Amino acid sequence: MDSLKGTRITWLGHATVLVQTAKGTNILIDPFIAENPKYPKNFVLPAKIHYILLTHGHGDHIADVVWAAASHSSTVVAIYELAAYVAGKGVADTIGMNLGGTVQLDDVAATMVEAKHSSAAQDDQGTHYVGVAAGYVLTITDGPVLYHAGDTAVFSDMNLIRELYRPEVAMLPIGGHFTMGPKEAALAVSFLKPATVLPLHFGTFPPLKGTPEELIALVDASVHVVLCAPGEAI
Ligand code: NI
Ligand code: MN
Repeated sequence: MDSLKGTRITWLGHATVLVQTAKGTNILIDPFIAENPKYPKNFVLPAKIHYILLTHGHGDHIADVVWAAASHSSTVVAIYELAAYVAGKGVADTIGMNLGGTVQLDDVAATMVEAKHSSAAQDDQGTHYVGVAAGYVLTITDGPVLYHAGDTAVFSDMNLIRELYRPEVAMLPIGGHFTMGPKEAALAVSFLKPATVLPLHFGTFPPLKGTPEELIALVDASVHVVLCAPGEAI
C-alpha cells in the first residue's frame, strides 16, 4: 500500500503483528506463536527483531516473549510492572513505561495509550499483577502512524488518540467475548478515522465470533478493512 511509505505490516494471527519500517527496524507486537492456532506455521521471523511490544499480560499476548526475545536479540517494551515481570522470567533487555508516555525506538516513537481490559500474568506460582492493559501508537519517521489497540472495549477517549496522533492504520480487535466485536469496533473506527483497519483477535478460538465482513458492513465504504490471511503483509 503506497500510503505506508515502505513500512511493512504482517498479521501473524490473533493479535500478533510484525512491523518492519523502511529504515529496517523490526517490531513484533504481542508474540503468541507456539500455541496460536492461527499462526502461519511456515512463517520465518526476521533474525533480528529489535523490539517486542507487549500490550498486557494475558497468555495469548505474551506466551512466547521469553523465547522470542532471546532468539531474536530483542528489547521488550511493556508497561512498567509487566516489563519487570518478564525480566524476572529471563528477558535480558526491557523498557518499562506507562500510559501517555512515549519512548523513541530508533525511527519509531512508541506511545503507550489506554485500553479498557484487564491484565494479569498467570504462571505456576499463581496470578500476578502486571499493571493495566494498554495499546500503542507507533509514529514512524518518514512513515505512517499506526495504532495497535491491544485487547479493549470501545471507549470514547479513542477520540483523543485521533486528535493527538491521527493514526492512518488502526489494528483493532473485533472477535467479541473478551474484546469489542464488530458493532463496537465500527464505533471505534468512527472515533479514530483511520484510512485502513486491520482486524485482530477474531476466529482464533470458538468464542471470538466477530468477522471482518461484519465490520465492513458497518463502516463507511471509504475505510479500507484489510482481509488477509495470517502471514500476509498488508
Ligand atoms: Ni487479554
Ligand atoms: Mn487477548
